[in-house]
Amino acid sequence: IITCAAQQTVVIGLAADSGCGKSTFMRRLTSVFGGAAEPPKGGNPDSNTLISDMTTVICLDDYHSLDRTGRKEKGVTALDPRANDFDLMYEQVKALKSGIAVEKPIYNHVTGLLDAPELIQPPKILVIEGLHPMFDERVRELLDFSIYLDISNEVKFAWKIQRDMAERGHSLESIKASIEARKPDFDAFIDPQKQYADAVIEVLPTQLIPDDNEGKVLRVRLIMKEGVKYFSPVYLFDEGSTISWIPCGRKLTCSYPGIKFNYQPDSYFDNEVSVVEMDGQFDRLDELIYVESHLSNLSTKFYGEVTQQMLKHADFPGSNNGTGLFQTIVGLKIRDLYEQLIANKANAPTEAAKA
Ligand code: ADP
Ligand code: G6P
Repeated sequence: IITCAAQQTVVIGLAADSGCGKSTFMRRLTSVFGGAAEPPKGGNPDSNTLISDMTTVICLDDYHSLDRTGRKEKGVTALDPRANDFDLMYEQVKALKSGIAVEKPIYNHVTGLLDAPELIQPPKILVIEGLHPMFDERVRELLDFSIYLDISNEVKFAWKIQRDMAERGHSLESIKASIEARKPDFDAFIDPQKQYADAVIEVLPTQLIPDDNEGKVLRVRLIMKEGVKYFSPVYLFDEGSTISWIPCGRKLTCSYPGIKFNYQPDSYFDNEVSVVEMDGQFDRLDELIYVESHLSNLSTKFYGEVTQQMLKHADFPGSNNGTGLFQTIVGLKIRDLYEQLIANKANAPTEAAKA
């Protein structure tokens, strides 16, 4: 009997607080793999899952063990590990990774209740996104690559105001209060996960405008761990050097306050990392090709692919700054990692054949 190597699902973890751009990032990522992700056909309309040919994105809120009422009664937030079922999360991610379908619960964000489960087939690439993808050590071990979106408090506040005040009619005071209420649990359970991430996208207020507190112009840092298998960090001009670069001038149109890039080796927690930083925003997205041509190790398949992706989704939030640029780049790096992992698997003798 000829046995095929078991189909292996590549598992990616994406961690961030809610309202920090995870779904926007997921749209960019699935687009890199070709094709938009959609909710499962014919299923629960309140499903949080997104499926495309290559990727399935599951939202870890589905592993809430306490529903909204349960959390209220026990006085715990959704960020608290006690409101989440890590045993089930581990079992199901492990099953999917080894090619076995699972009946995953659904947390209904409209009703705040747990709905009947949905069947999830093992995809080529499984993304688990949410508050705790790197919290439980067993789940963390299953991740082939992990990302943390680190939105600074100032920026988080600006985004929340924009969304909750403009679109949902909340008051400034109530937004402030809800951020404050989440903060202790965020600091205790969510934020520490960034030390485990292979890539961190850090979003900070600009340094180009003195005392800026508008949160419109952003300084974004892409922090990439060194020595991760199948992942080689992007760099600017010369690998391992420290570079400061202002691309504005004859080849790039910049209005106030301009654009500034930085690149340098650094350390992050106990890890050696490379950091590419962009402060400011693009006036003309088509001119991004000029910046792209100065970045190396982008894992593009053709010249200008980053720019093409950015232009394709110019309407997504963050397309004119480092958030969109770095999310797109991380998407390309994940595609590269996936292709290397699969190629390696195809070449490796199966366990059975080795024995
Ligand atoms: P999540 O999935 O983490 O809840 P979303 O991707 O839905 O986050 O984004 C939530 C809101 O945050 C968006 O509606 C938008 O207002 C804001 N936002 C997200 N990413 C950006 C960005 N890169 N730049 C500016 N605003 C952003
Ligand atoms: C989800 C989100 C959390 C949010 C919660 C609302 O689980 O991921 O970030 O806090 O819903 O919880 P609540 O207890 O206010 O319904």
